[in-house]
Amino acid sequence: MLLIIDDDIAVCTSLSLLLRKEGFDVAIAQNPEDAFAILKRHPVELVLLDMNFSNTTTGEDGLQLLQQLKLFEPTLPVILITGWATIDLAVQGMKLGAADFINKPWQNAHLVQSIRTALALATPKVQETSPINTTLKTQTNAPTSTSSTRRTLDKQFDFGQIIGEDSQLVQILQTIGRIAATDASVLILGESGTGKELIAEAIHQNSQRSKRPFVKVNLGGVSTSLFESEMFGHVRGAFTDARFDRTGRFELAHRGTIFLDEIGELDLSSQVKLLRVLQDRTYEVLGSSKTKSVDVRIVCATNRNLEEMVAQGTFREDLLYRINLIIIQLPALRQRPNDIPLLVNFFVNNLSQLYHRPQLKVSYEALKWLSQLHLPGNIRQLKNLVERTVLISPHDTLQIEDFQQNYQTTPNNNNTTMSSLPEVGSMTLEEMEIQMIKRAMEYHRYKVARVAKALGLTRSALYRRLEKYQIPFEEE
Ligand SMILES: Nc1ncnc2c1ncn2[C@@H]1O[C@H](COP(=O)(O)OP(=O)(O)OP(=O)(O)O)[C@@H](O)[C@H]1O
Ligand SMILES: [Mg+2]
Repeated sequence: MLLIIDDDIAVCTSLSLLLRKEGFDVAIAQNPEDAFAILKRHPVELVLLDMNFSNTTTGEDGLQLLQQLKLFEPTLPVILITGWATIDLAVQGMKLGAADFINKPWQNAHLVQSIRTALALATPKVQETSPINTTLKTQTNAPTSTSSTRRTLDKQFDFGQIIGEDSQLVQILQTIGRIAATDASVLILGESGTGKELIAEAIHQNSQRSKRPFVKVNLGGVSTSLFESEMFGHVRGAFTDARFDRTGRFELAHRGTIFLDEIGELDLSSQVKLLRVLQDRTYEVLGSSKTKSVDVRIVCATNRNLEEMVAQGTFREDLLYRINLIIIQLPALRQRPNDIPLLVNFFVNNLSQLYHRPQLKVSYEALKWLSQLHLPGNIRQLKNLVERTVLISPHDTLQIEDFQQNYQTTPNNNNTTMSSLPEVGSMTLEEMEIQMIKRAMEYHRYKVARVAKALGLTRSALYRRLEKYQIPFEEE
């Protein structure tokens, strides 16, 4: 049963008509007392709460009622109904645990979609321990084998292209399994090359929208001046260069999923324009006054820290709450080193088929060596390294040396040299020196002559440092 709390009888009537037509059982409360009386007597699955639930009340009362509802039944999903003028209230409400917020006047289809999403998220399909709306950063010391959990998941879902048995990854796949069929918006976070796009595709592939389009937009590459035309389309003559009609990305994604990549790159003026369409699923084609509505699932990704950007005023908080119903935090590859051999073998198998080299494989030592490699470009860098090595090396069994030659020349990604340096103040030069020497020693398997060359030192200068820092080495 759904409970509508609103003292405006006209709103209650139109809402309950709509929701009954959609097959829901509906109860109405026109004040907080009635609301709690109903909650005590009936199995209410979800509450629709108008923030200005009385003409004489303020939004603050709405927030208070929300808090009381959450105290009464913490897991009960509450969807807020707010006016544009009270958007700040909606954000506060989300912080207090509301499931979603809908703006007045609402789009019926969008409201129903939001209700179904909240209901689906409240009843987990796959057994899982991690709560919704929290990042999945926390490492679990998986007691049962994560590989068997992974196999169970693979029977239910299509995750064929996503390799890995690390407990963090398996938890993420469980979350995807649970939320894929809903229309919940998903925000995917993670360093460059950790597989954000792959995860976005998996969400779409395992959803009911899988037969419909998956439209990817790289927001980092869309200029401010072209944002509206790109996203919403334009009609001929809308501006000087508009010689033809153009279909926008949202229209292309209708009934499917839109993947807004690098959302952290969006400037504030484009953020407002995006907010509007995410808010009520309507937009106007540039140069036309007709309002169009769109049915789309939103998946976003970024390697930026959006909360920090909100604090700095460079990312809108209300936009963040629109896109982050579910947050998926992808681990860096160095946090899941045990997956490196699986990934390498997967890439090598694909290449061995592609190039008809059935004998191709990787030695055990090389797999071990690759597992401790410094890879700031994460899986993308590992994949590039494997591809390059397979192409260049004449051997069927790839050894450490084969990879070593290519590692130096593999581009990792754009700005890693800068961003991979530790924060100023977090490390002294001496500590950095120690780390670099240790890393070079591992990399060159403790061959002092090579290590000295790689670090630009004479052998005796290196020996002095090894002794000073008590780093173990073998005499040559
Ligand atoms: N778990 C995985 N198993 C197999 N391949 C993977 C996995 N994760 C990522 N990859 C591969 O690594 C490459 C990089 O992945 P992807 O493009 O999804 O990363 P990204 O996080 O979007 O990176 P960026 O931030 O640079 O855009 C792709 O070729 C992808 O297929
Ligand atoms: Mg990407």
